[in-house]
Amino acid sequence: MWNEIKLNISSSLVFYKEFILFLLFVCVIILLVVEKLSLAIPLIFLIIILSIFILNLIGFRRRKEIDEIKNTISSIRQNKYQSSDEIILSKNLVGLEDEIKKMFEKAEGDIQYLERLQKMRSQFLANVSHELRTPIFAIQGFLETLLNGAINDPKVNKHFLEKANHHTISLSNLLNDLIDISMIESGEMRMSYRYFEINSFIDSIVDEFNQMAEEKNIKLIFNPAKDGLQVFGDKEKLRQVFNNLLQNAIKYTDEGSVEIILEEEKKFVNVLIKDTGIGIPEEDLNRIFERFYRVDKARSRAVGGTGLGLAIVKHIIEAHNSKILVQSQLGEGSQFSFKLKK
Ligand SMILES: Nc1ncnc2c1ncn2[C@@H]1O[C@H](COP(=O)(O)OP(=O)(O)OP(=O)(O)O)[C@@H](O)[C@H]1O
Ligand SMILES: [Mg+2]
Repeated sequence: MWNEIKLNISSSLVFYKEFILFLLFVCVIILLVVEKLSLAIPLIFLIIILSIFILNLIGFRRRKEIDEIKNTISSIRQNKYQSSDEIILSKNLVGLEDEIKKMFEKAEGDIQYLERLQKMRSQFLANVSHELRTPIFAIQGFLETLLNGAINDPKVNKHFLEKANHHTISLSNLLNDLIDISMIESGEMRMSYRYFEINSFIDSIVDEFNQMAEEKNIKLIFNPAKDGLQVFGDKEKLRQVFNNLLQNAIKYTDEGSVEIILEEEKKFVNVLIKDTGIGIPEEDLNRIFERFYRVDKARSRAVGGTGLGLAIVKHIIEAHNSKILVQSQLGEGSQFSFKLKK
């Protein structure tokens, strides 16, 4: 009992200066008003007893509140709550309850984010190893067959060498894409923005893809913008964007055409790359920009894809403060578009 009272009083004594001042003030008033000392002293004594009683009450409530807060925090630390709704403090601590709930939700959010990140990292590592294994095993297989005698068979030796060579090219493309992705994600990708003439820039890219389109009997069409139109961007990084988008458009189109359209707007140039290819199912549309995501893994791998192209495209376009958009109809074709500053 006494210990309890001592604890209560000591925890209420954070306001002891104010309390002593108040007590002195009351004593002085009593001494001034009550002239008789014999009456004043018991009155002061009574006031002091009353004060101790009040201090005890205040201290008791304070301790109860602090204990409540302490228990709540320790329950959070011990993961006793599943959701913030389970955190309930007494009525006079509503403001604090709100803050603790917000803190709890933020910590939950941060933990989930870190877990997601960790999962993505392990998934990325698993994907990288898997993608590296495919060409390395193939190269190993062809070389072993050649060493085991096929090198002397003129019917197959060149063919096997070409196959091995093809896989070393895939391997080197994959490594380049991985280097790009890691540079972008670690913030090391240096951008160098300037104005450049867009028509001649796209002409030079189209020239490089003409042969690939011809081989597949696909028409590659470029609708240029007005002569001399300039856009603002990193030319080399944008070349990578066009290369990836055109490569995809041709790769995933069996017949028809691939078209590059430039639409001039007030402050921007809207770039559209449109194909009449296999299209992308609606449920995959918002996933194709993820690293290693391929709609049809078998088909994509058969045409030499690892699913990194669009992830790189997205990063580069976002670095230009723009956004890559896609529309697609399964079996009819796809259209990728983004805006560049004029
Ligand atoms: N124009 C398109 N038409 C149909 N499907 C497409 C088109 N562009 C992309 N896709 C789908 O989106 C997936 C992701 O494309 P992305 O360019 O990232 O990877 P990839 O072409 O498979 O491989 P990489 O570009 O790394 O060589 C592709 O695997 C394909 O399924
Ligand atoms: Mg691609």
